Amino acid sequence: MKVAVLNGPNLNLLGQREPHLYGQTTLAGIEAELSQVAAELSVQLTFGQFNGEGDLVTAVQTARACDGILLNAAAYTHTSIALRDAVLAIGTPVWAVHLTDPEAREAFRHIDYLADVVVGRTVGLGARGYAVALRALTQHLRTEV
Ligand code: DQA
Repeated sequence: MKVAVLNGPNLNLLGQREPHLYGQTTLAGIEAELSQVAAELSVQLTFGQFNGEGDLVTAVQTARACDGILLNAAAYTHTSIALRDAVLAIGTPVWAVHLTDPEAREAFRHIDYLADVVVGRTVGLGARGYAVALRALTQHLRTEV
């Protein structure tokens, strides 16, 4: 089973970026933890981080070859119809993850263009939410297909 882990804008700065919100763990640290969980689950992971909206759309399209996608679209969650359309276009199950709970934050983060087109969401668990989300997505893929 292959899962693409895609991260959107500014998540390359995890560890330095607003640590009171996003924590001290770097993206490399998250990816290392995910790799351990993936080995345990016999899942093959690929990783990508994209600051540009078009780059993230292209990455989602490319990841349609995988069995599933773990996606933190970051700010594009709240703005991007193009990303929503990409998720709908590929038909590959996508699981959304957010370190914070956007609904508990500013009103503009309550808009979520992906919420109804993903198979599940993990929010508000910080860096460890990625591992929780990978386990949930893998279970979904193994039981729903
Ligand atoms: C985020 C939440 C978004 O609202 C924000 O724009 C991010 C990070 C999160 O993981 O909590 O960049 O996706």
